[in-house]
Amino acid sequence: MCGIVGYIGKKEALPILIKGLRRLEYRGYDSAGVAVLDADNVTVKRVRAVGKIDTLAEKLKAETMAGTVGIAHTRWATHGGVTEDNAHPHTDCSGAVTVVHNGIIENYRELKKRLSTKHVFKSETDTEVIAHLIEAHYKGDLRLAVEMALTHVQGTYGLVVMHRDSPRKIVAARLGSPLVIGVGDKEYYVASDTSPMLAYTQQVIFLDDGEIAELTDSEVKIVNHHDQKIDKHTEQIDWDEAAAQTNGFAHFMLKEIFDQPTVIKDALRGRLQVEEGTAHLGGLNMTEEQMHKVRRVILIACGTASYAAMVGKYAFERLAGIPTEIDVASEFRYRDPIIDPHTLVFGVSQSGETADTLAALREAKRKGAYVRGIVNVVGSTMARETDGGTYIHAGPELAVASTKAYTNLIAVLIMYALQFGRTNRVTVATGQRVVNAFLEISEKMTRALKTSAAVRQIAEKYRGYKNFLFLGRGINYPVALEGSLKMKEISYIHSEAYPGGEMKHGPIALLSPEFPVVAILTKNQLYDKMRSNIEEIRARKAPLILIATEGDEDARALADDVIFVPQTMELLEPIINTIPLQLFAYHMAVLLGKDVDRPRNLAKSVTVE
Ligand code: G6P
Repeated sequence: MCGIVGYIGKKEALPILIKGLRRLEYRGYDSAGVAVLDADNVTVKRVRAVGKIDTLAEKLKAETMAGTVGIAHTRWATHGGVTEDNAHPHTDCSGAVTVVHNGIIENYRELKKRLSTKHVFKSETDTEVIAHLIEAHYKGDLRLAVEMALTHVQGTYGLVVMHRDSPRKIVAARLGSPLVIGVGDKEYYVASDTSPMLAYTQQVIFLDDGEIAELTDSEVKIVNHHDQKIDKHTEQIDWDEAAAQTNGFAHFMLKEIFDQPTVIKDALRGRLQVEEGTAHLGGLNMTEEQMHKVRRVILIACGTASYAAMVGKYAFERLAGIPTEIDVASEFRYRDPIIDPHTLVFGVSQSGETADTLAALREAKRKGAYVRGIVNVVGSTMARETDGGTYIHAGPELAVASTKAYTNLIAVLIMYALQFGRTNRVTVATGQRVVNAFLEISEKMTRALKTSAAVRQIAEKYRGYKNFLFLGRGINYPVALEGSLKMKEISYIHSEAYPGGEMKHGPIALLSPEFPVVAILTKNQLYDKMRSNIEEIRARKAPLILIATEGDEDARALADDVIFVPQTMELLEPIINTIPLQLFAYHMAVLLGKDVDRPRNLAKSVTVE
């Protein structure tokens, strides 16, 4: 969702801001804008545009925007339509205050009504009230004015502000919407995540809720809402600019699909114990005694992460024998969940910023559960708010549709299940089987990726269809769900996913030669059951694409098209079997001319409820 970049230093701000906005494009947006403060001439220039950054960049060609202080924004509309007037940055009445904001100001209607007697509003946004509030409180000290203004505000914000009369200063404030400060050599960056600053620095300070930062040419000063100074550590992040490039691939999504065999090794590294047949995830922060007392596991997530969590449920129940539920975060938080001190709750999230997942975890914590995070983005809110947990080490994932984070989330969830399982019912031998299967998984993923050209041909053949049904059973049911989600997200083709055995309870009515089915029929304990479901499809003459195990010649005879994947231990099958489905959605979207990395209406990181 919305993205923020700010810069203060010696360099020209505009190129840094525009490059930064491009780095944030992946989050999803529908308009963009930039403002640069020229200290020599004491002027602020602002340019905004509806649509892509390219449109903004085109518009900027006709402008000169000199200055070494500036802020910029990509907006994903919430309050007010997608118009230039509603695009950020927003200003006060005179144009002295310039503001960019992520989040939602809940009481903006009351504030606007009150301010309207003396202030002139130019947009329909909630954000604009902040600019006018700061104007009302400004008496020469921008930080104090922001602090005062925020005392009137209810809601969430990641906020970055400039003032024409404090020309060598930027003020940033955070409550519920992330902000990171990049520390350079006598220069500072501020952004909603680290990606815009990776080209310049890997030294960062993560702002926490309730903190306000004042950036000048020579220092960062961080205070709380009572203006008391807070000492913060500068942290070194290990993601670099190279990891955030397409590296010759046509899209980020394709690059990220092909990253998977490499980044899964990063997730596994140092965590598998071959001799002991177990995994050790230090971030769990629980003693064996506490682990023994866990009676229930709840996995909370949204979107793709929730399908990874579904695989985690199978793993926890099969290996650890602990009843495990998956809850979609937006449901969990309003459902009065039953939680006791023997409940272990994991938040499962690529970004670590998904608003519903964060709120659900806070609710679980309030009710006394152990709360842990399984997260990709280092320093994200979830990583910081939970009492432990694990990074999945997938590296920056910039395509909106999640791929490599999904497989790494699964790997970490299975490792957790193994770690718990080895404290109760899993033998060394069984544990070693899981560990050994993990040790071979990267090479098998590479083999699964070799299907890409064949999958593209299948996509060519099926590109005219308007609907698909995805089917899987057992641990491959989440794979079907994820395959269907990928198809919807990036190719906008309608698809549904069902457990194979449930098909005859409704969806079978849809089947016809116009309604293709993608089914996962790999060699596992449910092979024969799934095969029976496939016969039912054949009888209805629906075109059939199968994901089958290498060497299964029967599968070839059954289906119109088959994609063969390497066999692995059943528990790890989703890591392999999802790959051709990711590729299928990708090739389909490319063939249909869709914006693969930035699909319409979607945001990478959903930071509002
Ligand atoms: C958005 C994204 C999805 C993602 C979901 C959860 O809807 O478009 O790709 O799966 O959020 O995100 P998270 O960062 O919590 O995994």
